[in-house]
Amino acid sequence: MDFPQGTGTEKHDECRIFRQGDETRREGGGFMKTTILRIRDVTAQAADIEAAGELLRAGGLVAFPTETVYGLGANGLEASACAGIYQVKGRPSDNPLILHAADRSMVEMAARVVTPLGEKLLAAFAPGPITLILPKRPEVPESVTGGFDTVGVRLPDNDVARALIRAAGVPVAAPSANLSGRPSPTTAAAVAADLSGRVPLILDGGPCRFGLESTIVDCTGDRAVILRPGAITRDMIAAAVGSADLDPALSTPNVPPRAPGMKYVHYAPKVPLTLIMGEKARLAAAFRREVEKRQAAGKAVGLVVSEEIAAALEDIVPPPLTAIYGAQGDLFAMAAHLYEALRYFDDKAVDVLLSEGVVPEGLGLAIMNRLQKASGGRCIEA
Ligand code: TXA
Ligand code: MG
Repeated sequence: MDFPQGTGTEKHDECRIFRQGDETRREGGGFMKTTILRIRDVTAQAADIEAAGELLRAGGLVAFPTETVYGLGANGLEASACAGIYQVKGRPSDNPLILHAADRSMVEMAARVVTPLGEKLLAAFAPGPITLILPKRPEVPESVTGGFDTVGVRLPDNDVARALIRAAGVPVAAPSANLSGRPSPTTAAAVAADLSGRVPLILDGGPCRFGLESTIVDCTGDRAVILRPGAITRDMIAAAVGSADLDPALSTPNVPPRAPGMKYVHYAPKVPLTLIMGEKARLAAAFRREVEKRQAAGKAVGLVVSEEIAAALEDIVPPPLTAIYGAQGDLFAMAAHLYEALRYFDDKAVDVLLSEGVVPEGLGLAIMNRLQKASGGRCIEA
C-alpha cells in the first residue's frame, strides 16, 4: 500500500497540539488503578504482552494501540467481558463492536463465511485500516453485534495490537478507547484522559499512524458499500473490487446509517465547534471575520486549522489558542492530528472553536465526516 511511512508520528513532536499529554489526569470518576505500560518491542516484552492477553482471556479490559486509533479491548466471544466495554465507555447498547483478528485464520472465529468480496478486500488491504462486515458466527454474542446477524472484523496493522490479540487467542472486541461521544484517542495519554481509573491496563505504543477510525465496508452483498469512510478510500476499494458505493446516509440528512454508531453525536470537543469551508483564496479572510465577530461579543476563540490559516491569524489568535493539524492539503497529517487537536482544548479557556474544512474527496471524505460530526453540522461557507 502506498501510504507515506511514519506520517503522524515524527510530525507530532513539532506540533503545538502535542504539548498536552498529562497521563495521570482523572476525569469522570473511576477508582481502579490504571497501569500505563509503554511497549517498545513486542519480542523483548513478550511477558508483558502475555500478561495482557491473559487479562483479556480472564474477562478484563485492555486498551491498546492500532494503526487507526486506540481500542478498548475485551474477549470478543464473551458477552460478559464485552458488557464491561459498554459500561466503561457509556456506550449505547445498540451500537455493535468490531472484532479484531491477529491473522487470517482468526477472521473465521468471528465470521461464518468470508464472502468473495471480503476475500478480495482482505487480499488488497489486510492488515490495514479497513473493517469488513460479514455474516457472523453463532459463537459471537448478540450483544457484540447489536442483534445483527453480521459482524465487523478487522486485522489491525500494528505490532502491539497483533501480539496482544495473538496472546489472547480469541478475536478482541474493541471500540475506540474514548468515553462515548468524545474524540477517539490517538495517544495513550488521550486514552488515560478518558479512561484512567476505569480500566486496569493501557498499552502505550506511541501515536497512531492514521489517526482516524477504519473504513467500514459491508461485504455481505454483491457490491461493496462503505458505511464509514477512512484511510482506505472509495477509489482504492473500487480499484480492488470493481465498484464501491457510499451508504446514502453519509450524504443525505435524516437517512438512518447502516452502521448504528454513525448516528450518534461524536468526536465532540468540550466547547461548540463551527466549521469554515471554502476556496483557499477566501478562507483566511473568512476566518478573520468570524474570529473578530466572536471576539467582539466577548468570546475566547480557539482555532483548529492548517499551518497557513494559523499563520494568517497569528495577530488576533495567540498560538496557545491555536491547534495546527497540518499543512494545508496534507490530508495524512490532518487525519493523524485531528483528534489530538480537538482534545488540545479540553483544558484551555476557550468558549468556541473554529475549524477549517477540506475538500471531501479521498481521505478528505473521512476527515470531513468526522469534522461534520464534531461540529454538529454548524458550517459557514467562506
Ligand atoms: O479503526 C477502528 O475501526 C477502531 C479501532 C479501535 O479498531 N475501532 C472503532 O470502533 O472505531 P467503534 O466502536 O468506535 O466504531 C465501530 C463502528 C460503529 O459505527 C458501529 O456501529 C459499526 O462500527 N459496526 C460494528 N459492527 C457492525 C455491523 N455488524 N454492522 C454495521 N455496522 C457495524
Ligand atoms: Mg468510536
